Amino acid sequence: MCGIIGCTGVKCAAKTLYRGLEDLEYRGYDSAGIAVLDCGGIITVKRKGRVAALLPAIEELGGTTGIGHTRWATHGRPSDANAHPHTAGAFSVVHNGIIENYAELKKELADEGCTFFSQTDSEVVVHLLNKYYRGDLKEAVLSTVRRLRGAFALCILCKDYSGFVAVKYCNPIIVGTGGGALFAASDMPALCGLAENVAVMQDGQIAFAAEGKITFCDFSGEAASLTFSTLPVSARPARLCGFPHYMIKEINEIPAAIKATASAFTSENCAEKLARIQKKRGGFTDVVVCGCGTAFHSALAAAYCGEELLKIPVRAETAGEFRYRKSSAGAGTLFIAVSQSGETADTVEAARAAKRLGACVIAVTNVAYSAITGVADVVIPVRAGVEICVAATKSYCGQIVALALTFASLCQSSSALKSMLKELKTLGAACSAAITDCRVEDVARACASSSGVYFIGRGMDYPVALEGSLKLKEVSYVPGEGYPAGELKHGTIALIDGGTLTVAIITDKTLGEKTASAVEQICSRGGRAAVVCFKGCAPLSLKERAEFFIEVPACSACLSPAVSVIPLQLIAYRTAVILGRDPDKPRNLAKSVTVE
Ligand code: F6R
Repeated sequence: MCGIIGCTGVKCAAKTLYRGLEDLEYRGYDSAGIAVLDCGGIITVKRKGRVAALLPAIEELGGTTGIGHTRWATHGRPSDANAHPHTAGAFSVVHNGIIENYAELKKELADEGCTFFSQTDSEVVVHLLNKYYRGDLKEAVLSTVRRLRGAFALCILCKDYSGFVAVKYCNPIIVGTGGGALFAASDMPALCGLAENVAVMQDGQIAFAAEGKITFCDFSGEAASLTFSTLPVSARPARLCGFPHYMIKEINEIPAAIKATASAFTSENCAEKLARIQKKRGGFTDVVVCGCGTAFHSALAAAYCGEELLKIPVRAETAGEFRYRKSSAGAGTLFIAVSQSGETADTVEAARAAKRLGACVIAVTNVAYSAITGVADVVIPVRAGVEICVAATKSYCGQIVALALTFASLCQSSSALKSMLKELKTLGAACSAAITDCRVEDVARACASSSGVYFIGRGMDYPVALEGSLKLKEVSYVPGEGYPAGELKHGTIALIDGGTLTVAIITDKTLGEKTASAVEQICSRGGRAAVVCFKGCAPLSLKERAEFFIEVPACSACLSPAVSVIPLQLIAYRTAVILGRDPDKPRNLAKSVTVE
């Protein structure tokens, strides 16, 4: 959701920024731009399209200080003019977030004679800076940020200042130092190889980085301090390592993600932390598991498993709905926020809303220093490693494991947790077998030529059906839906014809018989069908009825989505490749949705 970067004191600012932007590109790839301080002025280069489009234009840029941006368009279509940095007068600005009161500010500034060159909300920031600048940079920045409503992480250049300014409010920004140079970026991997020490800026802070030193203040101008620590090894940016795309590389990393998540749960004493908070709260009356997109799908699967283990109401809700709903959650509620990035605006705000209602908040996240960790009473780590592909794969499996372990701990049966930890020792091998043995090419070809692909399942297989459908839609653009198998005949079956494909997921023998009936109904109407099932779970008749049949190793119900999702992820990946799409950077999307 837009990546921003700043640097000062480096050998060549443009080259440093370009390298950082390559690592930030997963946050948005509608346009990119760089501005550098050179010969007492600001030189700006910006282009519609990917970061690589900047390369020919930055070859000649000098300067040791600069800022950079990679954009996910919110206000104004992708174009050269709407690309950041926005430069006017003495300033240049890059912005991640949304300025909610931009329309009134724009009118005020235009009435005062400012000329706007873009349709973005961000351009008001550079004009405000010029408006308030009377030679005192700090005053200009303070006056500007006090006028802004919404969410903003900013990097600012001023032609009279030898460094850059970074501002953080509701969107992430990390500052770093190394080799005498100073940096800021939207995430840590972009600082790898540049900074040695890093600090995560807090909401309402401003950093002034120049001449080898960073000083901080808050929005009232009072001095603030931040503690720097060594840049963690886990923040190393990912590389393709011989794989053609990050999506398939990250699917191959699922076994490692499961292993690392399970071992972090133990080594970070998560069961003990959960027991303590449960005791302190006198137990819980109900549980809400919340997330967006793929994280919502792992929340939904966990809710099925959690209610069975805890025997109290456990429900899953999308964060965007929860945050604005008049919820009955209260002091007895356990609220579990699930987010790979830990920065998704809806999820962070839903967690804050739950906290205001008195609920106990747990965060399940893949990013240890993310915003959600600051809201939570307890953090349960997902250790999937840096995920670059916009479509979540290994982080979903990590979330399934972290959530299942959380519920097994909360149910206070030591045998439940013990047997889950034991099973997790072999789950990685089951996933590896699924990754290497699944033959998905024919199903992917069928998907690629289908007018619609419907994923169906019951029980734990229903959230997996939703996830399979989301994955296929987002990377291949083939339309379709995920459905509870029993619901299909209540309307959606009207869409079934010879041009459609239905993928049935079956990981439970008893429910499998019911799902098999749905497949029969589809085939009887000329629809094509594929079955993805646990070994020995699908009724024999289905093997003959379905055109495609894929088996994966079986495991217990709570962990089943981590295995049954794999063929669906592979189908989505191969369909995208067959159709010539870029699975890592699907159109219109960005990883880490930090705006509403
Ligand atoms: C889909 C996908 C998105 C994210 C969603 C939430 O493949 O990646 O649906 O799951 O935007 O993101 P996080 O988990 O970072 O909160």
